Amino acid sequence: MNKAFFKYYRSADTIYQVHSPFLYKFAEAVMEKPVKRFPDIETLRNKLKADSSTIHRTDFGAGSKQLRTITTIANIAKSSISHPLVCQWLYRISSFFQPKEILEFGTSLGISSAYLAKGSPGSKITTVEGDSEVFKIANKNFSQLNLEIDSINNTFHSFLEDISPDQDFDLVFLDGHHNYKATKTYFQKLKPHFKPTTIAILDDIHWSTEMEKAWEELKNDPLVRSSVDLFQLGILFFKPENSKPEHRILIPQKYKPWKIRLKD
Ligand SMILES: C[S@@+](CC[C@H](N)C(=O)[O-])C[C@H]1O[C@@H](n2cnc3c(N)ncnc32)[C@H](O)[C@@H]1O
Repeated sequence: MNKAFFKYYRSADTIYQVHSPFLYKFAEAVMEKPVKRFPDIETLRNKLKADSSTIHRTDFGAGSKQLRTITTIANIAKSSISHPLVCQWLYRISSFFQPKEILEFGTSLGISSAYLAKGSPGSKITTVEGDSEVFKIANKNFSQLNLEIDSINNTFHSFLEDISPDQDFDLVFLDGHHNYKATKTYFQKLKPHFKPTTIAILDDIHWSTEMEKAWEELKNDPLVRSSVDLFQLGILFFKPENSKPEHRILIPQKYKPWKIRLKD
């Protein structure tokens, strides 16, 4: 485990230290519920992890010089898709809020999109992926899982250029192009499409010092009223539930069983 994780673990509170009723309900629904298993998605994940076919991959995080490399599907499935625990959180967030419109940046093989869809079957999900070969595999996976997901093969930048000014999103999951400038830019460009009830989820907020800086600054954006740091995911809320903003670093109670409620 790395230094960032120890820092997170040391500072993390449990649900019992949360003040706002809104964040308490969030923590209860997302962090303290028993795991719900989705054998169809996890069987597919295991199949992808064993798939040695090769594809030409384009790295869209590499700026103007888009790097093309040859890799296996197994390698992508092992290294760049969300861990089952993170998928479980995404499923529960989607299930708790029942967002009408979901936007995901970074489809990869479609595993996190599938969990978001399972949580809220009535949602319209749009997921954006720059790499055309990965995009094709994700589409095959959505058909195999019988999921209706609007998947778009585009760069995040071009998608944002083309988006209608009237388009709002209820849940946004940013899971790609993890650097300071890109994260800040995408957030600013998405702002006009947020409602007060929108939930913005950022992946890999402690992955690098750049991402930690972006997370700290976004938490303090004037639009943000509360935030939750779950180490892998950072979640931003814009709803003015509290007169005082509340920012929490949270961990499921079972990992800090001594952090209980001492008084009401
Ligand atoms: C970490 S993976 C997404 C994982 C996926 N959300 C999951 O957990 O199953 C990030 C994906 O974003 C794509 N990506 C990164 N930067 C991008 C950009 N600027 N435009 C479009 N796609 C991009 C990459 O090709 C990669 O497939």
